[in-house]
Amino acid sequence: MIINEHVRDYLFSLEEELPQYLSDLEKEALRKKVPIIRRDVQSLLKYLLRKEKPEAILEIGTAVGFSTLYMLEFAPPDAHITTVEKVEMRLKEARKNLAGRERITLIEADAGRALEELAAASRRFDFVFLDAAKGQYGSWLGSILKVLEPGGLLVTDNCLLEGSVAESKFSIERRDRTIHKRMREYLQTITHCDELETVILTTGDGVAVSWKTEGAIHEKA
Ligand SMILES: C[S@@+](CC[C@H](N)C(=O)[O-])C[C@H]1O[C@@H](n2cnc3c(N)ncnc32)[C@H](O)[C@@H]1O
Repeated sequence: MIINEHVRDYLFSLEEELPQYLSDLEKEALRKKVPIIRRDVQSLLKYLLRKEKPEAILEIGTAVGFSTLYMLEFAPPDAHITTVEKVEMRLKEARKNLAGRERITLIEADAGRALEELAAASRRFDFVFLDAAKGQYGSWLGSILKVLEPGGLLVTDNCLLEGSVAESKFSIERRDRTIHKRMREYLQTITHCDELETVILTTGDGVAVSWKTEGAIHEKA
């Protein structure tokens, strides 16, 4: 956690309650130690969804479907969510939790491959929520930019690695150095890429909110 607990708890106290089915699913996921979006990330997503009103949402990293159902709750009534998950243990729960939801499509595949196929099929999304293997974010970015509509938002979760992304690589344990390096490269890319305008927030474990520009409206120095 990047902000202190006292501030976080105060901010939570200002939030509206979750609908019962989401609250139950959140409790169940936390009990089973499934890494779902934190409360402050939930608030940010709700804000962005209500403000932007996306119609086509792509989520990378379904886990058991908590964030998928959360986004469905706060997206416009005609929005559709496509969500990608590859791990069978998670898929088993996700299939159950998302069953009967006509506005959700669960793609059971590796995200890299799914993204390539979505791009090849000229699928377009106006909101992409990236919440899967952190070390892969950079390698998926090219396909994400192909499927993201100009004007659309890319929301990247867990991008500050509990703050360690700001540390020198020499203070990072050897086993974590690859992810540290890849995340720094990813953040460098999304903050310096002509196609994106990005703000990085210390919400949760760090969330980058990137807006895909609609043309050459900003030039980097
Ligand atoms: C942090 S969890 C997602 C949590 C979920 N978004 C929520 O808040 O309810 C990340 C998920 O991404 C999945 N994942 C990781 N790498 C993946 C990949 N290459 N393709 C598809 N899913 C992947 C993991 O199995 C895990 O369930």
